[in-house]
Amino acid sequence: MSLRWPLENDGGVLSIDGVSSTQLADEYDTPLFVYSENRIRTNVNLLKKAVQKHYRKTRILFACKSNTNIGILKVLRDEGVEIDAVSPGEAFLAVEAGFSPGEILFTGTSVREDELKHLVEAGYRMNIDSVSQMRRLLKLGVPKTVSVRINPEVGAGHHEHVITAGPDVKFGVWESQAPEAYRLALEAGVSSFGIQMHIGSGIMDVSNFIKAVNRLLEIANHVKDETGIDFDFIDIGGGIGVPYKPGEDEVDIDVFFERLFGFMKQRLGELGLGSPEVWLEPGRFLVAEAGVLLTRVTTLKSSPGKEFVGVDAGFNTLVRPAMYGSYHHIHSASGLNEPPQTYTVYGPLCESGDIFARDRVIPKVEEGDLLAIMNAGAYGFSMSSHYNSRPKAAEVMAMDGKSRLIRERETLQDLLRGQMSSSSK
Ligand code: LLP
Repeated sequence: MSLRWPLENDGGVLSIDGVSSTQLADEYDTPLFVYSENRIRTNVNLLKKAVQKHYRKTRILFACKSNTNIGILKVLRDEGVEIDAVSPGEAFLAVEAGFSPGEILFTGTSVREDELKHLVEAGYRMNIDSVSQMRRLLKLGVPKTVSVRINPEVGAGHHEHVITAGPDVKFGVWESQAPEAYRLALEAGVSSFGIQMHIGSGIMDVSNFIKAVNRLLEIANHVKDETGIDFDFIDIGGGIGVPYKPGEDEVDIDVFFERLFGFMKQRLGELGLGSPEVWLEPGRFLVAEAGVLLTRVTTLKSSPGKEFVGVDAGFNTLVRPAMYGSYHHIHSASGLNEPPQTYTVYGPLCESGDIFARDRVIPKVEEGDLLAIMNAGAYGFSMSSHYNSRPKAAEVMAMDGKSRLIRERETLQDLLRGQMSSSSK
């Protein structure tokens, strides 16, 4: 997979936004998530340009489940992006990064009473996932802005686990219940309304998006007919995919939004829904390719017919290959120009599934070399765990040849946090 700016081959060493990966590993140790600030800013601006070209009133909300490091959230805030949060923890981190609750849309499913109370009292915009949730919320307070997450009956995505619309999916409200949900909010005095969907993640093709948007707008029209609500915004969720494999095409976002918004404008007109704002909730698109996971080779070993490379990151650090069978491209960060060899790359966890790549051709490596696992900026750190009691990795932001630590590496002491040492005897 050829390197894309701001990743460069500097005499065989991977350079990330002008910073040498070997220097980064020496300074901050491994496993290490490194993000390019320039790439994040560029991604936002590419997306903004493409959407605004085809629809005037748009808003981009970063789906911060993909990465909640407040260093990253601050960069995104600086670029004028708002926040999609799905837990009180994400909402809290976004506020810590400088967002106000009014710039955050909370989309929760199976939300507790005390969480709803906190969110409504603090003034978050609320996106509601069931009639029950709406009823419980309105007893606790009346948000200024309310939307309802609709199941538009059409889903899409790179894996069954991340398809979030369609039959048998836990998310959203079906058309038959949508008017009731809105009526409850209207009667409670809510004055600003949106309607939302999120059909899945890792979507490379616009066609299912168009089908789902069609249903969403039909349902919006049905709700309008029954309740008289005029929608201030239509939120079509996130899900735009990025290439992970060599040779995989990237989404041409100009064409994607030309088709999607062309269709939306036509249907909004036909259905008499006016010209509401259109909101998007990208996660992966903004940060995935901006992040690299650097990991050190600890072990070379072989079994009959297999060469193994052991590294110091595992599925505790990046779970996507083990969880979804996801492909992440691997470069030899300290030996990009070495001759190719076939390896199975494994981590330090005591499970056979702790494998980043099976029989993968990468440049020849020695023990002590550095590997770079690509596209680690989204759903990398945010899905990492302490499994096998391994402290979590550090995170670094790189930009124009400089780096800064944005999360310290955890220590063994951190593993004791909150544990009680008293015994029953
Ligand atoms: N909005 C909502 C309500 C969502 O649930 C999600 C993702 C997004 C937006 C952003 O989707 P994105 O643009 O990042 O595709 N852990 C999985 C992805 C799960 C996504 C869950 N929801 C992975 O690593 O592929």
